[in-house]
Amino acid sequence: MRIAISAFKYKGKSMPCHKSRPFVFINAAMSADGKIATIERKQTRISGKTDFDRVDELRATSDAVMVGIGTMLSDNPGLTVKSQERREKRRAKGMDENPVRIVIDSKARTPVDADIFRKGAGKKIIAVSETAPKERAEKLSKFAEIIVTGRESVDLEKLLLELKAGGINRLMVEGGAALNWGLISNGLVDEIYTFIGNVIIGGESAPTLVDGVGRTGEACRLSLISCERMEDGVLIRWEVSN
Ligand SMILES: NC(=O)c1ccc[n+]([C@@H]2O[C@H](COP(=O)([O-])OP(=O)(O)OC[C@H]3O[C@@H](n4cnc5c(N)ncnc54)[C@H](OP(=O)(O)O)[C@@H]3O)[C@@H](O)[C@H]2O)c1
Repeated sequence: MRIAISAFKYKGKSMPCHKSRPFVFINAAMSADGKIATIERKQTRISGKTDFDRVDELRATSDAVMVGIGTMLSDNPGLTVKSQERREKRRAKGMDENPVRIVIDSKARTPVDADIFRKGAGKKIIAVSETAPKERAEKLSKFAEIIVTGRESVDLEKLLLELKAGGINRLMVEGGAALNWGLISNGLVDEIYTFIGNVIIGGESAPTLVDGVGRTGEACRLSLISCERMEDGVLIRWEVSN
């Protein structure tokens, strides 16, 4: 299915406006050699305070934040808005202080004591596939809304349609490598922010910005929106040509 896209103006610029799925952007920090974590798939410090603050602003201005189960199990991220001022701003607009937190988790492996359930107020969604063990999904349903879509893995396209129908217009994706591939390879990403830090991680098996099976034919094309120095790294913003 092709997604209808039209344009609207934001700060005088034309912006893509999706009628049937949210505006989707990926944000990631990577090393100078393109790695987003170490070979143990553990987080390592790539960016600094200025970048953390930028990420917090992106989170605070999104309706939902999404991660894959690989990231959930490796990093146990809370995915909350850290700045009190930004949380208050959201509340003043009648929103929850945190965006909806979504985990892509075919087999319902998200731990019930994960930080997304313990930290911060706001809705959580676990997207599972039809093959998810019923008892696991039932346990998780005490803490989150469960959306079942896809046979073996989560059907990301259908999920996005459902999220849009539920009022999610702006979706921030915070990794990891396999989820980024799943979204990009299905033409479901509009923009990518990459902070490239002044470190080299190395390791053939260390995750990169986008893993998955990769393309053999034509590569996914990007257009450069902006590129700026930030601390000792570079922040690049790309538009994805779907
Ligand atoms: N530096 C950064 O900015 C940053 C940000 C985030 C993460 N990370 C790092 O990235 C690593 C995790 O990345 P990862 O690639 O292992 O895991 P991931 O992308 O977080 O999660 C991938 C998993 O999602 C599930 N999934 C279900 N449906 C899917 C679909 N349609 N497409 C893709 N995935 C689907 C699959 O597991 P099931 O089949 O079991 O459901 C898949 O293995 C960690 O090392 C973490 O530290 C870095």
